Amino acid sequence: MSDRPLCVALVGHGYWGPNLLRNYFGLPGVEVKYVCDTREPALAEVGRRYPGIATVTDLGVVLADPAVDAVVVATPISTHFALAKAVLEAGKHVFVEKPMTADTAQARELVALAAARKLTLMVGHTFVFSPPVRKVKELIDAGELGEIYFVTTQRVNLGLHQKDTSVIWDLAPHDLSILYYWLGEAASAVSVNGRGCIVPDIPDVAFINLKFPSGVVAEIQASWLSPVKLRRTIVVGSKKMLMYDDTENVEKVKIFDHGVDFKDPDGFGEFQLSYRTGDIVAPKISGVEPLFLEAEHFVQCVRSGQKPVTGGEVGLQVVASLQAAQDSLDGGGREMPITV
Ligand SMILES: NC(=O)c1ccc[n+]([C@@H]2O[C@H](COP(=O)([O-])OP(=O)(O)OC[C@H]3O[C@@H](n4cnc5c(N)ncnc54)[C@H](O)[C@@H]3O)[C@@H](O)[C@H]2O)c1
Repeated sequence: MSDRPLCVALVGHGYWGPNLLRNYFGLPGVEVKYVCDTREPALAEVGRRYPGIATVTDLGVVLADPAVDAVVVATPISTHFALAKAVLEAGKHVFVEKPMTADTAQARELVALAAARKLTLMVGHTFVFSPPVRKVKELIDAGELGEIYFVTTQRVNLGLHQKDTSVIWDLAPHDLSILYYWLGEAASAVSVNGRGCIVPDIPDVAFINLKFPSGVVAEIQASWLSPVKLRRTIVVGSKKMLMYDDTENVEKVKIFDHGVDFKDPDGFGEFQLSYRTGDIVAPKISGVEPLFLEAEHFVQCVRSGQKPVTGGEVGLQVVASLQAAQDSLDGGGREMPITV
């Protein structure tokens, strides 16, 4: 395979698919042979922009073509499992948009199937490839922030209400995948408060509380109802604190040399706290498009057989967390263990 271009097909050319197509099309050593969508009108634009790409409404055509090495799935969540399973069963590598599946059992099945067939299964946790998120990971791993105490994150705006999914399944996969990547561990328990303000039974606001095995605690605020767009995360560590604001154009990450030190009393005296407010530093961050890095990583994993950073196991952890979050909300906010 290494001597010839990797032959890729895209399934689902709605809102997000065109972004994936543009990036895969621009990758050296990749040929995009097909775009498949069940809706004819979704394909018209493909023919105009990329005349060399075949457009089909039947995935069977793609799966029957032995030239196709890998399939990128960007369809609604409820269809991910059946499509990804069919791709793997056809002996092809698969990239599935986030969240990997609509429930934990399906996610487990895909992970097992990919492993049994020795095929690459990667999930579109795009933010893991975003340069500011990578920078924060570097800082945490280098011990720059010290021991991580907690993380709070806000992902709110006047967003599109989805018809077939809640704000938890739509927005929280981003924050869960970022947190799991940064912390190198998945949450062990979750409790959620939220409600469907506009469409009954489809929550459009959720406050998701997470506990991690290491003791880290985190809160994700996710909402499609907000007067302003916030994409802001605060990480508080024992040495320094950090703010990652994805709506900023330049200074997306700011490191605050702020903290509070606890001084144990020597004898029976009162403990003392000393407050530190030092420099604020904004590191230089590359402006490469995360989707390009994500596509490049998928191709590299398919070619080398290496495990993707956002492989099926991470996809499964995120789906299990979403399912436990949903169960907690349905159960009136009760804490639920997260089991993969
Ligand atoms: N990684 C990210 O940052 C990001 C951002 C937005 C959306 N997404 C994900 O991308 C996926 C698609 O979201 P969207 O907003 O583009 O949805 P969409 O509804 O706009 O588009 C989905 C497309 O898939 C097509 N489709 C549905 N079933 C199909 C099938 N069985 N075979 C072929 N085509 C089929 C539809 O006709 C439609 O054109 C979702 O999983 C979503 O979570 C990811």
